Amino acid sequence: MPDVPPGVKGMNDIFAPEVSKWQFLEEKARGVLDAFAYRELRTPVLEYTSLFVRSVGEVTDVVEKQMYTFDDRDGRSVSLRPEGTASAVRAYVERAQWNKEPVTRWYYLGPMFRHERAQRGRLRQFHQVGAEWFGVDQPSADAEMIAMLVAMLEEIGLPRDSLQITLNSLGEPGERTAYRDALVAFYRDHRDKLDEDSLRRLETNPLRILDSKSPEIVALNQNAPVLLETLSDESRSRFHRVEERLADLRIGYTVDQRLVRGLDYYTATIFEIKTDAGELGAQNTICGGGRYDGLVASLGGPKTPAIGFALGVERTLLAMTEPGESYEPAISVFFAPMDPAALAYALPLAHRLRVAGIRVEIEHRPASLKNLGNQLKRADKLRARLAVIIGGNEMASGKLTVKDLAHGTQFEIPATDLESKVRQLLD
Ligand code: HAM
Repeated sequence: MPDVPPGVKGMNDIFAPEVSKWQFLEEKARGVLDAFAYRELRTPVLEYTSLFVRSVGEVTDVVEKQMYTFDDRDGRSVSLRPEGTASAVRAYVERAQWNKEPVTRWYYLGPMFRHERAQRGRLRQFHQVGAEWFGVDQPSADAEMIAMLVAMLEEIGLPRDSLQITLNSLGEPGERTAYRDALVAFYRDHRDKLDEDSLRRLETNPLRILDSKSPEIVALNQNAPVLLETLSDESRSRFHRVEERLADLRIGYTVDQRLVRGLDYYTATIFEIKTDAGELGAQNTICGGGRYDGLVASLGGPKTPAIGFALGVERTLLAMTEPGESYEPAISVFFAPMDPAALAYALPLAHRLRVAGIRVEIEHRPASLKNLGNQLKRADKLRARLAVIIGGNEMASGKLTVKDLAHGTQFEIPATDLESKVRQLLD
């Protein structure tokens, strides 16, 4: 037998019953986003590479090391999207969305691509539920978004006390520059302790050194200047107002002065949520986001405040402790015809239930038709509530034998009343 080429590393197939857990998460997330008046946006997975270079940032790990970038057949460099914000902003600007409505709330759900070292909770094709909210710059909006995320995670089933919310503020772009200069001065004084990666970042993007995982740099960073302390009174007071609104909404959080996030477009409030629920291990940041008040203008639109987040679906699923089966709907009715003639009789009956929205399985395979015991075993395995048995007697009398598999009882039901009787039994 010829070998089948394997699926691409770090990209997974999602099978039943696990897929039911995905659907549950997606449905709950959509429900909460609907309640907060977001509308869905669907963008292509492929964009011109320059979009990500100009938004996510040229000197970020995502753009430098992780994008799936190639020239298309017209010779233009395209990339599989590593995240969703850039595409949302592109769509916002291209469509001049500000002319259509003063405030836009968009959400999206779909695959993202980053060529990372694959491990538990870190994939090369992963999925995000994300939201982007344009046109509102009030601190109350930042608090609302974080509160919505908490509501979403609780709705999905993560206990509130398993969530750790961290916040920080990057201030205005000008303040970021001043902080950058302070950082550069600090790292220059400690040049001998920097590794090759950090030395390069010192010239290009020194904020990223704060993100370094290398133990020596982590130690050095303990003494690095702290951003919040260098912010203007105005930025600090704005951050304080976000904190007040979070308190009104009863959202607990901690301020992490070293939180900088891995993407360049952020300004003012940034946040991440970690959880200790489930089996996440090291990759326990399930979502992140923040304000990006300069991005729309930097991509050619008018100055427009915006804030967003993205939730990692795979990581959130790992935090949900119930197995996939428990999210899977059971079969309601299993049809067990005893021979091909009974199958021909049963199929239209099964069809009637199915178009009425009842979940039905029916045996078709000739070898299985003869063996009622095996059919009932299969019904059991599918967790069917009812089995409808059809043989010669049933066809002659028009009365079907129905077994309630949960209670071990048995009834005769006229074929003519099938839907209503089945509904009664299922209730
Ligand atoms: P991000 O922090 O890069 O932010 O990603 C958000 C979430 O996606 C992470 O917290 C994580 O759960 C998940 N994630 C990221 N990379 C991987 C991976 N390789 N494997 C599995 N899960 C992963 C953004 O993407 C921003 N666009 C969020 C945002 C929206 N900010 C403003 N608006």
